[in-house]
Amino acid sequence: MSGHGQPRPLTARKSPPLKGEAKVPGDKSISHRALILGALSVGETKVRGLLEGEDVLATAAAMRAFGAEVTRGADGEWSIHGVGTGGFAEPSDVIDCGNAGTGVRLIMGAMATTPITATFTGDASLRSRPMGRVTDPLALFGTASYGRRGGKLPMTLVGAADPVPVRYTLPMASAQVKSAVLLAGLNAPGETVVVEGEATRDHTERMLRGFGADVRVEETSEGRVITLKGQPELRPQSIDVPRDPSSAAFPVCAALIVEGSDVLVPNIGLNPTRAGLFETLRDMGADLTYENVRDEGGEPVADIRARFSPDMQGISVPEDRAASMIDEYPILSVVAANARGRTEMRGVKELRVKESDRIDAMAKGLRANGVSVDEGDDWWTVEGRGPGGVPGGATVAAQLDHRIAMSFLCLGMASAKPVTVDDASPIATSFPIFETLMTGLGADLAEGHPA
Ligand code: S3P
Repeated sequence: MSGHGQPRPLTARKSPPLKGEAKVPGDKSISHRALILGALSVGETKVRGLLEGEDVLATAAAMRAFGAEVTRGADGEWSIHGVGTGGFAEPSDVIDCGNAGTGVRLIMGAMATTPITATFTGDASLRSRPMGRVTDPLALFGTASYGRRGGKLPMTLVGAADPVPVRYTLPMASAQVKSAVLLAGLNAPGETVVVEGEATRDHTERMLRGFGADVRVEETSEGRVITLKGQPELRPQSIDVPRDPSSAAFPVCAALIVEGSDVLVPNIGLNPTRAGLFETLRDMGADLTYENVRDEGGEPVADIRARFSPDMQGISVPEDRAASMIDEYPILSVVAANARGRTEMRGVKELRVKESDRIDAMAKGLRANGVSVDEGDDWWTVEGRGPGGVPGGATVAAQLDHRIAMSFLCLGMASAKPVTVDDASPIATSFPIFETLMTGLGADLAEGHPA
């Protein structure tokens, strides 16, 4: 797993035009949920297109530890024989979720209302992230938790023996917290209600419905009110995981900033709770088009074509768009550095508690490569240097964060001098084929530091 081996430096140099088709892997959020809901249903769930990245593989291993049978067929199709809601067995060892915040938080929710005890840990990044945001609402069901100071992993959860249903208003925009509460509500009697002030990705609600749970969503003056009827019998499903828009963001944005590029990224889910980056890029003047727009399994899907866009202008990104592009601010800041004028990103304090403090990680690395960045607790601004105007030439710290590593490699593809990331190994958590795919398009990526 990333962070456990030797650091692997990787250098990106100014690249020739990126051309061709970029088939990115399956959606990370949907892949975690498919494994967990498969494990909580009765019978065999089949999953095609599962993201086989380290984060998701850690969730597959965790589902086995809780008693589900999870196997991968030779054809790449995954099979999950579930144990039913409330059917999780007590794991005989610590559950290591690696780098995966989504994995650990959703699994904590899924076991929280079953009378078993489980201990969770992860890599140095995950062990530094706040878990109180999940254990606070889980305590309302009757779940006890014992972690390190500040609610950090390693942490032991004792599932509630007699759970009560919960009504919880999210104090922050977080699909992980929302999902943990809903998954805990599965094994509580009565109705569990989650209220979210801002809409976050809704894959859990959609997939729960797909598995046969009774989930109602109402838009009210308080926000989105999601009501789940507890103790359903989840019916196994056959799931085709769409390709990940958050991974698509990298070849799309690289194409926009590398001179002469024209890249097609097929079959990308454009669920409105995930597609904020593409809207923002269009607002900046990017040459980005949706082709072959269609509906698949209730989700909008399209092929995205991105071409080199020398006329992009910095903008003020609407704050109410933050949740729908929360993982895309690092790569947006790379595009912003190659646009003209200032890009302002506000209402984004959640970026400080991701796999790294992403405002800090990007600000440091952009400055080292000659880009001016200003920042406050929940905002940051990037001064564009115009197309191809970033000097580059520095080595940046990836801080065990896949999206920081990929963002700086994209920066290097359009900078005057090479950009190196000190450790590219975390990329395997979400986008294991990143290097092959990008070099296949023409990107100049090479192991090690520049000579
Ligand atoms: C995710 C939710 C988001 C996102 C993460 C995936 C999910 O995190 O950053 O990469 O699959 O639910 P938060 O819930 O912390 O906002």
